[in-house]
Amino acid sequence: MNEASHTHRTVHMANAEDIIPRDIRFGILENAQRHWLDNDLIRTGMIDGLSIFLPEGERFFIRSLKHFGSTLEDKELAAEINGYAVQEAFHTREHEVYNRALVKLGYDVERMEAPIRKGFEIVTNPLHRLSNTCAIEHMTSTLSSLILRHPELLDGAAPAYRRLWMWHAVEELEHKAVALDVFNAVTAKKTGFGRYFLRVMGMNATIFAFLILFLRNFRIYARNDGAKTGPRFWGGFLWAAMVRPGYWRRCLPNVLRYYLPGFDPRNSDDQELLSKGRKWLAENLPPDLYKPTVARVT
Ligand SMILES: [Fe+2]
Ligand SMILES: [Fe+2]
Repeated sequence: MNEASHTHRTVHMANAEDIIPRDIRFGILENAQRHWLDNDLIRTGMIDGLSIFLPEGERFFIRSLKHFGSTLEDKELAAEINGYAVQEAFHTREHEVYNRALVKLGYDVERMEAPIRKGFEIVTNPLHRLSNTCAIEHMTSTLSSLILRHPELLDGAAPAYRRLWMWHAVEELEHKAVALDVFNAVTAKKTGFGRYFLRVMGMNATIFAFLILFLRNFRIYARNDGAKTGPRFWGGFLWAAMVRPGYWRRCLPNVLRYYLPGFDPRNSDDQELLSKGRKWLAENLPPDLYKPTVARVT
């Protein structure tokens, strides 16, 4: 096993110039809408359910990477952490607004968020935190690639929500390799097996916690909505997750790639997907909203 024997320099896709924080306010609170995706409770709930994780999650990711930022000899990578942190801070802000919109619509966000907050708080070891961040970044970038490859998955979405998710998908793809590059840099002295073990344990820990909390929250969400959460409801959920549109089924092969020794998050079609996503943003965001900011923030 030659876990990550490549350094991030030799296979670099992202650099600080590619990580473009866009300071955009999407106005979700003013445009709060129940069942904003095609008037479909299940598909909307599956996406709203991700937003519930995000403010706490993204603050956790920023902490994870910033902890190591000053110790890195590679200044280019340290600059990428800055771009990364600015992007995630804007995401946090917009998803806090998003979640306030859910409260306004009558969903018990506090109840859904509470165990997520606790879950992140109990991870205090910096390397474990970083390993968890790498795993979650891989999951978010997998979902982002899916949305950028198939923007029709958001057909029938209310415009403000669609813009927000497309923006988030582009930026997740832009910074998807940063956490793992930091992980590889700070674990360079460990054995190949040691790094592999630490990396995949991060995925094992987060994927199971995510599934349990997601399903728990999905039930609360649906009940807040007045739905009965019996077999018919869960059958509909499984259909959407695994069959059509099959969000989870389509993500699974790429998520599992994480378990390959020497895994690298970069894919051959990343640049193509990014160009496609950036073009979409340039064409679909009102020009006064579309203000990329400077990535190198010191
Ligand atoms: Fe994000
Ligand atoms: Fe991210």
